[in-house]
Amino acid sequence: MNNPLPFSQACENNKQVILDLLATHLAVSDSVLEIGAGTGQHAVYFAEHFPNWLWQCSDTPSDVDSLNLRIAAAQLHNLPSAIALDVNQAHWNCAKSNAIYSANSLHIMSADSVENFFAGVGRQLQENGLLLVYGPFKYGGDFTTESNARFDLWLKQRDPVSGVRDFEWVMKLAEGAGLEFIEDNAMPANNQFLVWKKTGN
Ligand SMILES: C[S@@+](CC[C@H](N)C(=O)[O-])C[C@H]1O[C@@H](n2cnc3c(N)ncnc32)[C@H](O)[C@@H]1O
Repeated sequence: MNNPLPFSQACENNKQVILDLLATHLAVSDSVLEIGAGTGQHAVYFAEHFPNWLWQCSDTPSDVDSLNLRIAAAQLHNLPSAIALDVNQAHWNCAKSNAIYSANSLHIMSADSVENFFAGVGRQLQENGLLLVYGPFKYGGDFTTESNARFDLWLKQRDPVSGVRDFEWVMKLAEGAGLEFIEDNAMPANNQFLVWKKTGN
């Protein structure tokens, strides 16, 4: 019997609204590194709709095999096999890219990992390349909604290192990594879509 493909209902719900925004930012033939690609549903949907984007997925060594089940099943010329990449690796084993995308990963990984995420993005993005991040954030220490506050509690009960991140803190990390803030879009289901551009070295 074939292994069932990993599935997330949230990805089904948000993939079109995310794609609409990606399409306004990415150039026709951009190469995108996705960090923490999870089930691969976003990657397959985006790569199908924009066949000239080269979509390179990655996830932690323990998650990359299940991700590759969906990628192999999709058989898309612009969606190569995912690479094993933990943001805490000193060297990210991939080429520099025009854009880096990550959804719902910063509130899952530890705060140290979020710091390493931004440091790695700073090293890995080409000049003028974009960082596109989707997920929930706190502003001025406050959750945007009651349901995000409950979500944060649930995350921390599941794993104490997880938690909804402070917008101001990630802004500081991004600045330190040579990223210039471009925009913050409010998204459905109490999420944000943040965009930065690599300007410094
Ligand atoms: C909630 S899932 C999100 C998956 C997918 N992006 C989505 O939107 O459904 C969080 C992802 O972050 C990844 N992740 C957690 N820690 C990581 C790390 N240190 N380095 C890279 N990815 C990490 C997990 O393996 C997982 O794929």
